[in-house]
Amino acid sequence: MTDRKLRVSKIENGTVIDHITGGQALNVLAILGIDGTEGETVSVVMNVPSDQLGHKDIVKVEGRELSEEELDVLSLIAPAASINIVRDFDVVEKKHVNHPDRVVGVLQCPNHNCITTEDEPVESAFTVLDDGVRCEYCDTIIREDLPAHILAN
Ligand code: CTP
Ligand code: ZN
Repeated sequence: MTDRKLRVSKIENGTVIDHITGGQALNVLAILGIDGTEGETVSVVMNVPSDQLGHKDIVKVEGRELSEEELDVLSLIAPAASINIVRDFDVVEKKHVNHPDRVVGVLQCPNHNCITTEDEPVESAFTVLDDGVRCEYCDTIIREDLPAHILAN
């Protein structure tokens, strides 16, 4: 890539989440609970051209190596995401996100009578299906627009 095309610099250490479905970068950060208040350097690029996806987003989190477990949740909204662990400017690990069996504390159940949405200290939990997710408390299924159900941090 030439300097003219470079949008965000390479990072020295941290995690690069690449090939995020175009427009989902802020939802990726919401799911990961990264809002910048801890002072970490975060770069977000949205809707840049991609050969594979047409358009993609990229998120770079410096100084933090995110774990496989926390990143697999992203498969729900960005199934093509690739995770690059960077050390001393080199990509030392590259992996894809896998569908987790369940997601806990990430999505809000749309059923207003569900125990997880009342004033009870019950964390939401969903079983991941092939075509959506099912609340483990009330069996409500969410198939469409998962990003709209992400719990606010
Ligand atoms: N990257 C970065 N800082 C580094 C190294 C890489 O920000 N020190 C970013 C690159 O800009 C790219 C991603 O990490 O967005 C993956 O880097 P790399 O594997 O070098 O690029 P590609 O081969 O193009 O990756 P892929 O095959 O996954 O498309
Ligand atoms: Zn429920």
